[in-house]
Amino acid sequence: MQFEIRESLDNVDADAIAVGVVEGVDAALACDSRFSSLAMPLFASGDLPLKPFETLIVPGKPKIIFVGIAKAADAETWRRAAATVVRRVKKVRTLAFGAGDVRGLVEGALIGSFSVEAYKTTSNREPIDRIVIAGTDRKAVEQGRIIGESINWARQLINEPSNRKPPRVIAEHARELASNAGLSVDVLDEQQIRELKMGALIGVSQGSEEPPRVVVLKYTGRPHSPRMLAYVGKGVTFDTGGISLKPADGMEKMKYDMAGGATAMAALRALALIRANLNCMAVVPLTENMPGGRAQRPGDVVTSMSGKTIEIINTDAEGRLILADGLAYARSIGATHLVDLATLTGAARIALGPFRVGVMGNNQVLIESFLNAANRAGEKMWQMPMDEEYRDLIKSTVADVANSGGRFGGMITAAKFLQEFVGDTPWVHVDIASAAWNDEEKPYLPKGPSGVALRSLVEFGLTFGEL
Ligand code: BES
Ligand code: MN
Ligand code: ZN
Repeated sequence: MQFEIRESLDNVDADAIAVGVVEGVDAALACDSRFSSLAMPLFASGDLPLKPFETLIVPGKPKIIFVGIAKAADAETWRRAAATVVRRVKKVRTLAFGAGDVRGLVEGALIGSFSVEAYKTTSNREPIDRIVIAGTDRKAVEQGRIIGESINWARQLINEPSNRKPPRVIAEHARELASNAGLSVDVLDEQQIRELKMGALIGVSQGSEEPPRVVVLKYTGRPHSPRMLAYVGKGVTFDTGGISLKPADGMEKMKYDMAGGATAMAALRALALIRANLNCMAVVPLTENMPGGRAQRPGDVVTSMSGKTIEIINTDAEGRLILADGLAYARSIGATHLVDLATLTGAARIALGPFRVGVMGNNQVLIESFLNAANRAGEKMWQMPMDEEYRDLIKSTVADVANSGGRFGGMITAAKFLQEFVGDTPWVHVDIASAAWNDEEKPYLPKGPSGVALRSLVEFGLTFGEL
């Protein structure tokens, strides 16, 4: 998809022009004035205004697509409006957008163009190949393009079936990503993982025929700074639950259990291409969670890279195990600030529903700057408590800590578990299980991977240099 920005859409050679119509605003002002002669009779006949994300197509050359815009008309509104239009129009090669938030429009057009139908052998999709936007802000176009493409890179990998993305294949994707974005890349193989004594990651991986990997991507945008931000992403390429097997219903969705890892890598891509002013890395432990003959059992005790011992109460609480070693490894290679991202708990979905992402951590200043970044990026998140009492729920009789605290406060006890492995390094934990997979189609989003948190990670990275 090509993007072009021009001051005026006069004489634009587009097949279609999308025009936002702001809800609850006087008819004469609700849309770009160039289209008011077309819009006014539609207001008179009651066909306008439109509710947010409703569309009205007026045929012609070019055809005009009116799209309802919420009164807030912030970047998120334009993002969703653009995605809606892109998903809605047919037989359009060049699409133009009237006035609107430029970066939001570009991101939305890209987000809307993502297809989940990767393996259909027959398809009648006719992708839009050129987008023309009215405006002057070229930098917004460039940033929007980088972010939109990074979101889709992550979504594509998250949507990939698990037979096509074992850890070693994801590591190959990471290498390719690194060479295209100018990142340095290091992939730890099983032998190196053993030498580093990542017993928690090894424990999870041993039920699978597929060997584990750890991907490390690095971006040095500020060579003389002592600060190094690490995005540590959960990369479970399929989560059967292991010996504590999950029920069959809906298990196919567990291909998205590597969304945190994919999003962390995609964030590095975006920050590198934007040339952000910080040093950061992505650390992604990758494994399958399978119930094989060598699989770990409930009651087993593993020794993590940090030296702490963990009693496995439930083999389905595997994400926190691999993150324990991922976080310890990130610290060992120089991370000064940690943010982990994970589809960690079903409890996050129960507590927050599919709308907000859970945020926890050990440093209120860092948590708040992360939440502020999420807010600026238009992504809904919510902080959960981390009182000491919750630690009591993950006491083990035989080991330093247990990997499950049962049903109560499940999102929080998972975070308390992770806290054991970050020491005094400032750390934010982001549980994206609630929102990483979209279960219900929306006008602006298909069922499937949402790419949630990518924009927050990029926004946070952009300001990390100034913190
Ligand atoms: N990957 C799951 C969490 C999950 C569930 C993500 C549903 C998205 C949708 C995670 O590994 C898991 O199984 N967590 C368990 C933990 C429990 C055994 C303590 C859970 O949430 O049930
Ligand atoms: Mn699990
Ligand atoms: Zn999992």
